[in-house]
Amino acid sequence: MNILLLGSGGREAAISWKLRQSPLCEKLFIAPGNAGTKAFGENIPLNILDFKTLREFCLQQKIDILWPGGEDSLVAGIFDFFATDPLLAHIIVAGPSKAGAQLEGSKAFSKKFMQRHHIPTASYREFSKANFEEGVEYLKTHELPVVLKADGLAAGKGVIIAQTTEEALQAFQSMIQEEQFGAASQKVVVEAFLEGIELSVFALTDGFGYVLLPEAKDYKRIGEGDTGLNTGGMGAISPVPFADDDFMETVRERIIEPTIKGLKKEQIPYQGFIFFGLIKVKGQPYVIEYNCRMGDPETEVVLPRLKDDLVKLIVDMGNQELARRRVKHLPDAACTVMLVSDGYPGDYEKGKPIKGLENVQDSLLFHAGTKASNTDVLTNGGRVLAITSLAPTLKEALAKSYAHAAQIEYEGNIYRRDIGWEF
Ligand code: AMP
Ligand code: GLY
Repeated sequence: MNILLLGSGGREAAISWKLRQSPLCEKLFIAPGNAGTKAFGENIPLNILDFKTLREFCLQQKIDILWPGGEDSLVAGIFDFFATDPLLAHIIVAGPSKAGAQLEGSKAFSKKFMQRHHIPTASYREFSKANFEEGVEYLKTHELPVVLKADGLAAGKGVIIAQTTEEALQAFQSMIQEEQFGAASQKVVVEAFLEGIELSVFALTDGFGYVLLPEAKDYKRIGEGDTGLNTGGMGAISPVPFADDDFMETVRERIIEPTIKGLKKEQIPYQGFIFFGLIKVKGQPYVIEYNCRMGDPETEVVLPRLKDDLVKLIVDMGNQELARRRVKHLPDAACTVMLVSDGYPGDYEKGKPIKGLENVQDSLLFHAGTKASNTDVLTNGGRVLAITSLAPTLKEALAKSYAHAAQIEYEGNIYRRDIGWEF
């Protein structure tokens, strides 16, 4: 199988590492990739939103599987572009149709979808310029804290948890009237704040059956003790100690199966990953958000725990054989610690030489924002490296990742020292 993977983060590094282990994987291309993905395949400088160029490349290289790592090309309709082209239709796209990607691409769509299918989620209302004044009145009497979400994609920045009514009104004004997030915040979802513990659950579906991958917990805040700004994720662990069998059974019954059945009933083509961002409130799971792709940095702990051949799994998805599939997970605990650039998630500098990469021997080193120069590996993003370790216990896994983190040096090297702290 020839595979084209789109993206350049730690997630794509982990996916390419896992794909490369499969005897079914012939050529693997990563567009654009990073300094680390070169070890598993060939980096190709393609624009992931330029579907015509991707088309030419897929034909030239006889690509069998196209895997869009992130949401952008899926929300822009890459699945439909391939499915409707007679020369591309045989290519398995590991991601949903444009309509299916709306689960992530539009918060208003996903909330309505959950309501239609009785999937537990926070109560909400939807507002735009047309009913702005009504929204102001609604916010004035809403319980605090209150959550405001830009409807569209906003690079993880479109969610505001307001602690006071003034803060909520100000955020509402800047989102809708000043279009703080451009077209993404022309519509805003206002929802109740749920108090609980979060976890990420991943299903791979072919539209009929599904398999469940290991669950994970992401540490989103920049600061230790879960303080400061939200980031893309500063680390992750898997398994999640509070996600016991009973809880996961409830997640399957009340969330995963109604979601997949709902998509099918509404004739929304969906093959690929569904990332359920969940919160456990008084023992019960609620959906905070859906994503139409794997998580980052969750993938960096999920795939190392997956025993199955990943290429075979994607092929089975393409053949709609997942209803009969089971996947096996390693019992070990996995953790990943993200090394980031000082200033992230705000402004940061790039181009800092990284030293000590060769010291990471008995852990997995997944590159994220890195770039190769003639002589060095340089920082090239906010999240720079993910160090994943596996061990019989989470404590041992964490000790391994932290020992390696201390051996890597670059200017402005920042990481959280408390990943997995509560377990
Ligand atoms: P989202 O982009 O929807 O995942 O939101 C980003 C983060 O905001 C989530 O991971 C939660 O930590 C938080 N969040 C979003 N919605 C809620 C909610 N209704 N109640 C509590 N926290 C929330
Ligand atoms: N780590 C959260 C995400 O990938 O959206």
